[in-house]
Amino acid sequence: MKLFKVYPQLDLELTKAQGCYVYDKSGNQYLDLYGGHAVISVGHTHPHYVKRIKEQLDQIAYYSNAVINPVQINLLEKLGQISGYNAYQLFLCNSGAEAIENALKIASFHTQKDKLIAFNRSFHGRTSRALSVTDNDKYRSMLDKYSNVQFLSMDLELVEVALKNKDVCAVLIEGIQGLAGIYIPETNFLLELKALCEKYGALLIIDEIQSGYGRSGKFFAHQHAGVQADIITVAKGMANGFPIGGVLISPEIEGWFGMSGSTFGGNHLACVAALATLEIIENENLIENAQVVGNYLMDKLKNIPEVKEVRGAGLMIGMEFNFAITDVRKILMNEYHILTGMSANPNTLRLLPPLSLNKQQADEFVDKVLISLEKIKKNEAVPVGK
Ligand SMILES: Cc1ncc(COP(=O)(O)O)c(C=O)c1O
Repeated sequence: MKLFKVYPQLDLELTKAQGCYVYDKSGNQYLDLYGGHAVISVGHTHPHYVKRIKEQLDQIAYYSNAVINPVQINLLEKLGQISGYNAYQLFLCNSGAEAIENALKIASFHTQKDKLIAFNRSFHGRTSRALSVTDNDKYRSMLDKYSNVQFLSMDLELVEVALKNKDVCAVLIEGIQGLAGIYIPETNFLLELKALCEKYGALLIIDEIQSGYGRSGKFFAHQHAGVQADIITVAKGMANGFPIGGVLISPEIEGWFGMSGSTFGGNHLACVAALATLEIIENENLIENAQVVGNYLMDKLKNIPEVKEVRGAGLMIGMEFNFAITDVRKILMNEYHILTGMSANPNTLRLLPPLSLNKQQADEFVDKVLISLEKIKKNEAVPVGK
């Protein structure tokens, strides 16, 4: 059998990982500044994470939501405490796209409306409804284009016009636009957006699948703006690589039996992986570390003449050049064994390292970027300069 060809793959076979490093089959060490698309939050194979999962496997790995699950109860408590959304309710599923599907459905059930507002450059996942609010025609089949979604620029006047008919169930926005190339919505925009949602009876859904779980230097990126969402979606860093997704739901929204469901969502093993991840985030002050090391790294990156713009918060960073990043990324990986990410913007390199990245590792990256740019300049492989 062959793999269905939907992913371009790097010529890299990984067999081991630890902390901020991964290792290929020949034992070469790579500094992982991408975390497999922002998934590795507390570091690869963290000993506490491994121990908690192994212990759980020996007890009970899975049972459905038909029974009381004590690990789930512990997870609810810990997530409520760390996220600042203690009064909210949690629905557990298995991926980011599934969290988005559920968030949209819950918003529609609750408001009894069916129109949606999403934003230009958005990315919310690959299932049909998630694609309907994703601003990228390449990803959407004919089945995924729904006429009840409006894409807008982040302009409050346009949003108000779109909300005026009071037929919009939800406005959906990423805490920080990730795949687009790391764009942070302005504080005032988020605050006013929430006020407009309240005025016209729509729910504000903030997608924190990539920007949440401490990555931005606060538990949720939107908390930098001091705004409160009605619904928040999470996944990726939530269990450091174990598949899980979640929807945090305002106490004002009431659930009912049958409103949603999932066979695997919230199982014992997934919950213990999520719980262990939160325990590590808390015990090792990783949110603060993301803030401190992120600021340190961004300050250094801003001093590189070839870098046109550095965007980001905490350890969610976009470096925009005046030229395509293909060569820099290739040199970093092949010659200096540093993994970085791309984005929808061909000129923007995306950094999403484990939240435990330290300053020495950040320095190593900056040094290697400078050397890579020198090499490119000498070979004149791509135009370099502001
Ligand atoms: C902001 C955002 N939302 C949703 C998703 C979809 O998550 P998943 O791939 O787990 O379905 C992603 C994945 O990249 C994302 O970055």
